[in-house]
Amino acid sequence: GVAVGRRVRSKKKWNRVVGVLRELEEACETPVGRLKQVVDAMAVEMHAGLASEGGSKLKMLLTFVDQLPTGSEIGTYYALDLGGTNFRVLRVQLGGRRSSILSQDVELQPVPQHLMTNSSEDLLDFISSTLKEFVEKEQNDSETSIRTRELGFTFSFPVKQLSIRSGILIKWTKGFAIEDMVGREVVECLEAALNKKGLNMRVAVLVNDTVGTLALGHYHDCDTVAAVIIGTGTNACYLERADAIIKCQGLLTTSGCMVVNMEWGNFWSSHLPRTSYDIDLDVESPNPNDQGFEKMISGMYLGDIVRRVILRMAQESDIFGPVSSRLSTPFILQTPLMSAMHEDDSPDLNEVARILTETLELPEVSLKVRKLVVRVCDVVTRRAARLAAAGIVGILKKIGRDGSGGIAGTRSRSDIKMKRTVVAIEGGLYTSYTVFREYLHEALNEILGEEVAQHVSLKVTEDGSGIGAALLAATYSS
Ligand code: GLC
Repeated sequence: GVAVGRRVRSKKKWNRVVGVLRELEEACETPVGRLKQVVDAMAVEMHAGLASEGGSKLKMLLTFVDQLPTGSEIGTYYALDLGGTNFRVLRVQLGGRRSSILSQDVELQPVPQHLMTNSSEDLLDFISSTLKEFVEKEQNDSETSIRTRELGFTFSFPVKQLSIRSGILIKWTKGFAIEDMVGREVVECLEAALNKKGLNMRVAVLVNDTVGTLALGHYHDCDTVAAVIIGTGTNACYLERADAIIKCQGLLTTSGCMVVNMEWGNFWSSHLPRTSYDIDLDVESPNPNDQGFEKMISGMYLGDIVRRVILRMAQESDIFGPVSSRLSTPFILQTPLMSAMHEDDSPDLNEVARILTETLELPEVSLKVRKLVVRVCDVVTRRAARLAAAGIVGILKKIGRDGSGGIAGTRSRSDIKMKRTVVAIEGGLYTSYTVFREYLHEALNEILGEEVAQHVSLKVTEDGSGIGAALLAATYSS
């Protein structure tokens, strides 16, 4: 009698846990019809953001980049790349022939957690010291020691640019929160810090990481018209016709085009499949009500969504033992660990077990429970990847490269001659998380249809956010 009673109770608990999973699956569903609604919403918001300042949650920021590198850039240029988990300094030597980056030195440092929230002075001092050490290690060849070093500054946050080399920080994202810098001119702040250190450098361009990525993509392949980052945060930029930027009448450009930084992380639409976990994450985040799209897609948040689901399962049952304090700690389960669990191909899911016990301090759980955790990772990642794909198609739609061009009813899809379209892409989620990447590709094909999809390629650029800034420094300093 007692044993049967226990079995019945434990069956009931398991059913409750499975109920949590089913509910999650349902709430995260992204059938292609829904993705197409997201595509349309993205294109509509892009129009609205270009029509007037504040016309949409999509800021559609001007970058003043109206020329992309062509391959003829020549000389030595520097780049500072700040905006994610790591901070980088680069020196790039350009050979003047297409795709001839002769040499490239990089120094990478994780941004210490306290510098993300202290004062602008602390952050900029750290940056300039790193840059100074980097420059001092240089061989004293005459070229670099005599002339002023030209610097491309990649600052991957929403900036209202005033020119190609100046702009005001609108707000912080991705866990940075240095209040005294919001509303200030970013390059002025940096140059003051560089001067203090006695560094002879000139900021030639101020760019977003997406813009650097587009620049490098275009340097290698001139059919590149947009760039997407899916890393700690997520965002995209693309080449827009100047006359389509209605909010800026009479914009002067040399090419008739300008790169627009969408800041799509802040995109929102009622068509997005939102769960109670997303709502809780948002409320408890340092930037509630902001960056809604980013919070469903990017590396900073995916692991935490999974943690919240596991926490809920632990509260509904005892399959994870008593709720550990680790399990209740925000951001403790980082996305690389989540992808390691998701991609664990050992028969016993040993990696899943290890991460659950080491990181979340849960007791050893059965294979059945480990499988459940993998399933949760799958649902969360699949939704993220498919939404990112919808975002990309939204851009293609806006620039008439989604195959739906032509006058409705007069031509069939296959009659429309599709131009080859390349989207440069970067960020750890896409490059290091295989399942994520596969889901994204699958969704692109579903939305576009295979015939159109074969004209669209996603190309990974490497270090575009840094190298691209150096390339743009070359473009805009000569
Ligand atoms: C965040 C930033 C954006 C950046 C993106 C990727 O969304 O606001 O500027 O491009 O992260 O790093």
